[in-house]
Amino acid sequence: MSDLLAAVRGCTFDDFLLAPRFSVLERRDPKSIDLSARFSQHVSLKVPIVSANMDTITRSAMAVVLAEEGGLGVIDRGFRGGDIAAQVREVEIVKRTQHGVIPDPYTISPEDSLASASRTMQKSGVGTLVVVDGARKLKGLLTARDVRFVAGQKRVSERMTPLDKLVVHKGEISLDEAEQVMIQRKIKKLPLVDHQGVLIGLITAKDIIEQKRLPLATRDAQGRLRVGAAIGAKGDYLERAAELIKAGVDVLVIDIAHGHSVVMAKALEAFRARFGDVELVAGNVATEEGARYLAERGVNGIKVGIGPGGGCTTRLNTNFGVPQLQALVECRMAVGDRIPLIADGGIKRDGGIIEALLFGGDTVMLGNAFAGTTETPGETVHKSVVLPESQKVVRVPFKVFRGMASIGAMVDRLDVEDADSVDVETLGAEGLEFSVPLRGSARPVISGMLKHLSSSISYGGAAGLGELKKMFWERPEDYMIKLSESGRRESFER
Ligand code: XMP
Repeated sequence: MSDLLAAVRGCTFDDFLLAPRFSVLERRDPKSIDLSARFSQHVSLKVPIVSANMDTITRSAMAVVLAEEGGLGVIDRGFRGGDIAAQVREVEIVKRTQHGVIPDPYTISPEDSLASASRTMQKSGVGTLVVVDGARKLKGLLTARDVRFVAGQKRVSERMTPLDKLVVHKGEISLDEAEQVMIQRKIKKLPLVDHQGVLIGLITAKDIIEQKRLPLATRDAQGRLRVGAAIGAKGDYLERAAELIKAGVDVLVIDIAHGHSVVMAKALEAFRARFGDVELVAGNVATEEGARYLAERGVNGIKVGIGPGGGCTTRLNTNFGVPQLQALVECRMAVGDRIPLIADGGIKRDGGIIEALLFGGDTVMLGNAFAGTTETPGETVHKSVVLPESQKVVRVPFKVFRGMASIGAMVDRLDVEDADSVDVETLGAEGLEFSVPLRGSARPVISGMLKHLSSSISYGGAAGLGELKKMFWERPEDYMIKLSESGRRESFER
């Protein structure tokens, strides 16, 4: 193993090719190949791809796409000063996108007016309200159809479908059984009650259809999409964590530029003291010592990468950092298989994904690779671009992509962490800001990555990602081809 460390010292993605081996796969279809991975000790994914917690990459829209495709999105914390509610809202949107059983469906009382029912439907975007009395006993269902064209002062009880006309299930039920009930009884909604008739949940046909349509999706025990969220290590981070946990976040990420630090140690201690064993990832680190430091402090996952990111100027400005493949090997050696590693940053082409995963990452975190997609936050701006062939000027839509330590991003969240140091010149920015042409949804970007990843597994002579990683770590020398300058040009310059 120390040979491997020596071989990757000073090296990153473009320094190696991988030697092809006898292929055992007859099809390279991502749906038939096991690509599953652990994001953290208790959060597993069917697809090892994560979107970066950057304010120009991941908010709810991106997090929904990632979770539906089998990966995970981590919502950034770069909201305006002290604005915890905005980040919490993004988490809530993801958690309410899909359900298995809805444990807390929107409810209304039989005595309420239809006008108030209409308002609740509009505000929540939900077309069916469960009617319950003061003791939460089920009384009926009220749908958007029931309130349409009806005078506002009428009571809910006058228009709802009453309990004696409803199909109701007593106790818990699996989604497969619920589907059978829905088919047999020709219903779209199945309320669940306990033995006293108290509402304990709701299953909808729409949610069952979604569960089948997206078999790889990353879901929690209740069938909701999973989502992560970043917090800092200072300022409002504990309060932010408390609110995010209340909103149902699946994993928190303490994300600071230099995670091997006294600041991180204090933050981890305070976090564990207050929140116990809530799933927690921390970073970033890039050395054996750094990874061990976090492991000893009980984190559930480690984010690896100091300065490889596409929007990042840390290495230019400070001359500190570790080439990403070396960083991954070091951190993997430090923690073994005990703690999952997130290979964060620097992946510029799909081939870099398999490298990051083989050299030590369990998942890859991507920023730049998703820049300019429809699901990224931020406004679209139109710029005039001259076409080289015709010299014609055309208006092209762009979106901004920026490092989280760029001046723009730092000024935007100044009052969260650095309320005392509003002097922009002293910020020491370590990130870039640039515009990227719009290029449609992130979904085809992800499916392209998965096809390429499946091909990599086929070339590597394995039947699945886990198997290829095992084969690689048993005999890395069979795979690694250190490139000469001309080998690199032949491989990656097009
Ligand atoms: P890619 O290459 O996928 O990397 O865009 C995403 C990761 O880059 C990191 N990041 C930064 N690093 N200064 C840095 O030193 C920055 O301003 C910055 N912004 C993002 C971050 O780890 C992200 O996940």
